[in-house]
Amino acid sequence: MSNTPIRLQIILGSTRPVRAGEAIARWVSDVASARTDFEVELIDLAQVNLPLLDEPRQPSQGDYQHEHTRRWSATIRRGDAVIFVLPEYNHSFNAATKNAVDFLYEEWRYKSAGIVCYGGGARGTRAAQHFKTVLSALKMTHVGDVAVGLSEVPVVDGALAATPQMTRALTTLLNETARLSPHLRSLREDAGIAPH
Ligand SMILES: Cc1cc2nc3c(=O)[nH]c(=O)nc-3n(C[C@H](O)[C@H](O)[C@H](O)COP(=O)(O)O)c2cc1C
Repeated sequence: MSNTPIRLQIILGSTRPVRAGEAIARWVSDVASARTDFEVELIDLAQVNLPLLDEPRQPSQGDYQHEHTRRWSATIRRGDAVIFVLPEYNHSFNAATKNAVDFLYEEWRYKSAGIVCYGGGARGTRAAQHFKTVLSALKMTHVGDVAVGLSEVPVVDGALAATPQMTRALTTLLNETARLSPHLRSLREDAGIAPH
């Protein structure tokens, strides 16, 4: 296995103008960036700004008609591993994340996926549970969840005051990502899935 850094993409799923997700994604990014084994890219779906899925062909055909899809495809293709920062809306994951995921297919395949979910009393765990079925459809390998309860750990002045317990849980998720990623990279190469 090579010592090439793992290209970790952190996907901030909330697109709301004022969102807790931004502080949570920054925390995840800061913890991952402090390590030497990851090259971190923070992807904000509000900036990616995809329309509702408007491709005429199925994503599994990879024959994209629109420039925004080709751009999105190139973005995800260059990554090795993903962490979804996932809000809980109405006891499930949010629509913008599902829409962004649905645009592509092969780009996700044989990559590791961690979930940092968040919400009120259930700490986003219902969103995470539902999202895992989506990950399995895409042949992504789920490597763990970190659940953030906003009523216990609120975002104050744009920052998340993460507890040591939360940071330990995130470190476990990152360790697992690092353990699997080189193997999954080989699998993608064997399947002819090119990074670029
Ligand atoms: C449309 C909507 C539905 C929500 N439904 C839930 C819910 O089912 N469970 C929950 O714990 N929180 C729920 N919340 C509260 C969110 O978890 C909280 O507002 C969080 O900050 C949303 O993430 P965001 O600010 O990054 O968009 C909901 C919020 C929105 C906007």
